[in-house]
Amino acid sequence: MTQRTLAESLAAYADSDYYPFHMPGHKRRLTETLPDFPEALQRAARLDITEIDGFDNLHDPEGILKDAEEKAAALYGADRCYYSVNGSTAGLLTAISAAVPEGGKLILARNCHKAVYHSIYLRRLMPVYLYPDIVPGTSLAGTLTKEQIEAALIQNPDASAVLLTSPTYDGITADIASIAETVHRFGKTLIVDAAHGAHFGFHPGFPKSPVALGADLTIVSLHKTMPCLTQTALLLQKGSRVSTERLRLFEGIYQTSSPSYLMMAAMDSCMDMVKKHGAGLWDSFFTERERFLERCSSLKRLQVLTDGTKWSRKMTSETGFLMDSGKILSETSKTCLTGKRFYDILLKQYHLQMEMAAGNYVTAIMTCCDTADGWQRLWDALKEIDDFCVAADEPVQENRKLLAYPVLKQQISLTDALDASKAQVPLTEAAGQTAGTFINLYPPGIPIVAPGEQITQEAVDVITRYRQMSLPVQGVDHDAITILKLC
Ligand SMILES: Cc1ncc(COP(=O)(O)O)c(C=O)c1O
Repeated sequence: MTQRTLAESLAAYADSDYYPFHMPGHKRRLTETLPDFPEALQRAARLDITEIDGFDNLHDPEGILKDAEEKAAALYGADRCYYSVNGSTAGLLTAISAAVPEGGKLILARNCHKAVYHSIYLRRLMPVYLYPDIVPGTSLAGTLTKEQIEAALIQNPDASAVLLTSPTYDGITADIASIAETVHRFGKTLIVDAAHGAHFGFHPGFPKSPVALGADLTIVSLHKTMPCLTQTALLLQKGSRVSTERLRLFEGIYQTSSPSYLMMAAMDSCMDMVKKHGAGLWDSFFTERERFLERCSSLKRLQVLTDGTKWSRKMTSETGFLMDSGKILSETSKTCLTGKRFYDILLKQYHLQMEMAAGNYVTAIMTCCDTADGWQRLWDALKEIDDFCVAADEPVQENRKLLAYPVLKQQISLTDALDASKAQVPLTEAAGQTAGTFINLYPPGIPIVAPGEQITQEAVDVITRYRQMSLPVQGVDHDAITILKLC
């Protein structure tokens, strides 16, 4: 007899005569008790339980969740998998806390997600930042190279781990195999934030998964690029450089004690789909994508940046980075449009909701769930806007390229800086002060200034320049920034 899946077990429980004297308070019976509750939510509530008899315990899995985690681990080629119902955020907090002792040193890419900075804060870590170069001829931040990491490991023999983002939000992927070999030669742990790469390794058209390339801990958000519910992610472990007990400890600290079985059933069903269909799940994705790219090669002003284009071949040969086929970046630097204006046109005139707008590009996330109609609508819009740009022949937009990130001196620790008393100063008077908060250009989300760092005139100039370009700078409020209060 085949075992029930998690989703089938939930459906069977919903249909059973067990009376729920347990959480959640909706008792799975919203239809009868609260008919005004929206219908879609009523259907979800039927399957919405947390840990009860016959199911399992996320923080000490022994039954159905243990099987589900093992299934996911096997599909990614990992030795162990830890479900996260709090996204890659909890996966990153867990991985870093388990791999680096409190107060320890972490070598990390400066373009890491804020969850990484939050772990530095919570565990009082000493960060060693490595700055990714900007991809030549673009406004895209790259990722780290083996050489950068090797140099940092030589200079910081007391570091416990190296952490980088691959793929980045833009889909740029590092040479994880060489980086893993380097990190392991120094006896350290490699953590890869692959939140945007949950689909990697499942089709030959995508880069390989960091798990297969030697990362010790890889974090993937199923909800970002796979058919799964929001908040679902996996922490995947290869080898035993990091203690499994510590991973379980921190996974339990950073996640709720009432995990949603709805989310976990979605994760299990997502893994079942991959197991059943394998690469075939992406057949129509690659067919549609090829047709789309062929059409895009006729665009005159807009440029599409993704894997399989002339641009990506050049980018890979110059930098060694690969590009994710699931990210479609439409670039506007040869048009009169800024990225934001282009984004607004796509949204308002074409009802196309993009993932994000940057200074001179917009990003679309494409997955195996995209329809032929979706690809067609994106192409139709790009073609019309491109034609408009050619006909209008307006001056090309002002240069919105990324500036070099200033390298700043850490005056006091990030944790001490975030906990200290703060004051506000006008940005124009900030040089020489110690930062009390993050100042980010978002996207790409690389802090120009991190808490505890000494603000230089160069940093003020970079922030001012971005603000003059109307790019989204976080951490500046009414021309003022937060610094540490002098006692
Ligand atoms: C690179 C990167 N890492 C981690 C995260 C956090 O992922 P989640 O939203 O699944 O918690 C994000 C979110 O956008 C991200 O872009």
